[in-house]
Amino acid sequence: MNSDHVEVDWAAYRAEFPSVERTTFLNTCSLGALSRRSRAAVNQFLDLWELHGASAWYRTWLGECAALRASFERLVGAPSGSVALAPSVGVALGVIASSYDYRARPKIITTALDFPTIPYQWLARPECEVVILPSDDGISVPLERYQAALDERVALVATSHVFFTSGYIQPIAEIARLAHQVGAHALIDGYQGAGQVAVDVVAHDLDFYMSGGLKWLLGGPGIVEFYARPALIDTLQPTLAGWFGHREQFQFDPEHFAFHEDARKFEVGTPALAAVYAARAGLDLLLEIGQAQVQARTAELVADLVARLRERGAELKLPSNLREHAGIVMLRADDPAAVVRHLREHTILVDHRPGYVRVSPYFYNTVEDNAAFVAALE
Ligand SMILES: Cc1ncc(COP(=O)(O)O)c(C=O)c1O
Repeated sequence: MNSDHVEVDWAAYRAEFPSVERTTFLNTCSLGALSRRSRAAVNQFLDLWELHGASAWYRTWLGECAALRASFERLVGAPSGSVALAPSVGVALGVIASSYDYRARPKIITTALDFPTIPYQWLARPECEVVILPSDDGISVPLERYQAALDERVALVATSHVFFTSGYIQPIAEIARLAHQVGAHALIDGYQGAGQVAVDVVAHDLDFYMSGGLKWLLGGPGIVEFYARPALIDTLQPTLAGWFGHREQFQFDPEHFAFHEDARKFEVGTPALAAVYAARAGLDLLLEIGQAQVQARTAELVADLVARLRERGAELKLPSNLREHAGIVMLRADDPAAVVRHLREHTILVDHRPGYVRVSPYFYNTVEDNAAFVAALE
């Protein structure tokens, strides 16, 4: 992605998103706004379905899946052939988790602030010991806790790029470095990171990095992309398999199975094509704007929102250093669900997590959106 400073016509990009024009849309961390481009892309898929039926697979749809993988590779700085598709983070984790032999290394390190689908993946495996690192402030987990928990019995550290209930940006390169010191792997759930926060999977020396359409990548539900380090693609053998992971998929040979040589070995079955189309349109829009621009704009809007809320004396749960803070602002409330319901009546879209209203501005928002939200809180 382009990181040089360039002027961006934010009003033009805002106009790409009818949702943000029709509502005060401050909930990207739950579900990103629908763009005209994603809607048009899904229509294109529907037209192909209507006109060509299954022949569109060969003519177009397999190519569309390849293009989506390539766009994600560009976004996260991954080499060609190192990204796979899955229907959800849960399934991506499942395929990866199925590739490990836990006898010598049964431990998985995760944290109390991660999205629970991460620990669930290994809690469902009786052969694994899941270590959940606590957080003292509900915002972050100190690096020393990772260090203290890591030993030669750890297979993976599986944690988030950005925590979903604090917006804290974890030092993922440091976490990977600590994991590698004891021969463990680093798996980063970037669902709240990629798109709004820059990532370079090679420079950060990550083993796995995943994200998907739902939130900051603006592609809606049903599709996840994940990077796997090429050396691990060569050595890991998933025990969850399907015809999309087979090198000779269209031979329909039930007696022999040979994995793809690239990251597609982690794919299982037919992808949700409508989601692939929507996701690629969202990702390409982000690539067009540029990661640095999106991140800087989002940081400005977050700082503006925090300042407005502080002025009102609101109780916030925030990292103290704004540079460690992505686009998720947690506002203390006695009855957050009631606040969210009330705001919805004013077409202001936010959501809640226990004890907090959760607000997330993105590049398509404006300071006026922040002001409308703060005014409606009165
Ligand atoms: C950090 C994080 N990971 C994962 C998910 C979702 O996982 P899945 O794709 O399995 O539904 C979410 C939110 O929906 C999330 O915030």
